[in-house]
Amino acid sequence: MSALLEVRDLEIVFPFGGKELAVVRGVSFDVGRGEIVGLVGESGSGKSLSALALLGLIPPPGRIRRGSIRLAGRELVGLGEAALRPVRGGRIGLVFQEPSAALNPVLTVGTQIVEAIRAHRPMPRREARRRAEELLARLAVPDPRRRLAEYPHQLSGGQRQRVLVAIALAAGPDLLVADEPTTALDVTLQAQVLDLFRDLRRDLGLGLLLITHDLAVVAGTCDRVAVMYAGQIVECGPTAELFAAPAHPYTRGLLASLPEIGSPAPRGELPAIPGQVPSAGDLPPGCPFHPRCEMRLAECATSEPEWIDHGAGRGARCVLARPREVA
Ligand SMILES: Nc1ncnc2c1ncn2[C@@H]1O[C@H](COP(=O)(O)OP(=O)(O)OP(=O)(O)O)[C@@H](O)[C@H]1O
Ligand SMILES: [Mg+2]
Repeated sequence: MSALLEVRDLEIVFPFGGKELAVVRGVSFDVGRGEIVGLVGESGSGKSLSALALLGLIPPPGRIRRGSIRLAGRELVGLGEAALRPVRGGRIGLVFQEPSAALNPVLTVGTQIVEAIRAHRPMPRREARRRAEELLARLAVPDPRRRLAEYPHQLSGGQRQRVLVAIALAAGPDLLVADEPTTALDVTLQAQVLDLFRDLRRDLGLGLLLITHDLAVVAGTCDRVAVMYAGQIVECGPTAELFAAPAHPYTRGLLASLPEIGSPAPRGELPAIPGQVPSAGDLPPGCPFHPRCEMRLAECATSEPEWIDHGAGRGARCVLARPREVA
């Protein structure tokens, strides 16, 4: 059976100094129906571009040079703007980080949700308005009818984020892509929005791709997780297994510096591993992580590690993840 979303060998390039450099380099992952998959990694690792690619929204002159993106079996790479429009917002809903930036300040909340509904399913305004009210009620926004008549600035941050989720859900998508949806929210609101995602998955069978810096968010929310580093997925697996036994030193480093669950740690930033993610223009030879890796071997500085598939959805891009020889 095919997954709801299948991304294979995705490569995204930007022109730099006369040639094209890959900033997303051979990324593959799946999202199943009713599944929440986390994409984590430090700033600049290629998370947002990978998400934007699903919607055909890579900012030009960036482009997909290679790879495949299939939604319910249908190839999206290479589709023209006209064919992509019903997919974007229709089959795939998108929630961004900044609720205030993504809403139009001069239109009421109701108008914006109604327009989102009618853009994909033509229906009388009155009916769309009723749906908008139902949607807000489902998202646990108190007094939804009154909220519809208000402007974005009259809502709290958490309510604005729910309005964005309502817009993303307006057309009844199969897949929701949420890029740092809770980073701008305080801890309580963050927990509410994540609860909401779990409810939507359960009630609507939505697939959800959740992009975050925050491993604590992944731990509590995602069924599976893919860890990105310098444009590649360096490890993936079911969340509980990956957290219990990380195979890649980068994942291990991230987890080691994760505060105890429940402790009042600063959120929104990945814990620090000394050093920086290399940019696409100056990737080191060998494994891109080796300059920061405490466990590097001599070969790591010269040969790029291959993806090692451990089966059952687990795998890592590290020589140390090679299966041990059995004595
Ligand atoms: N419009 C652009 N033009 C040129 N290069 C870009 C552009 N957008 C992104 N990049 C390059 O692609 C890399 C990955 O960007 P992306 O936005 O996907 O990172 P990210 O993992 O989402 O980071 P963050 O956590 O900061 O949101 C960046 O480091 C940058 O070098
Ligand atoms: Mg990003």
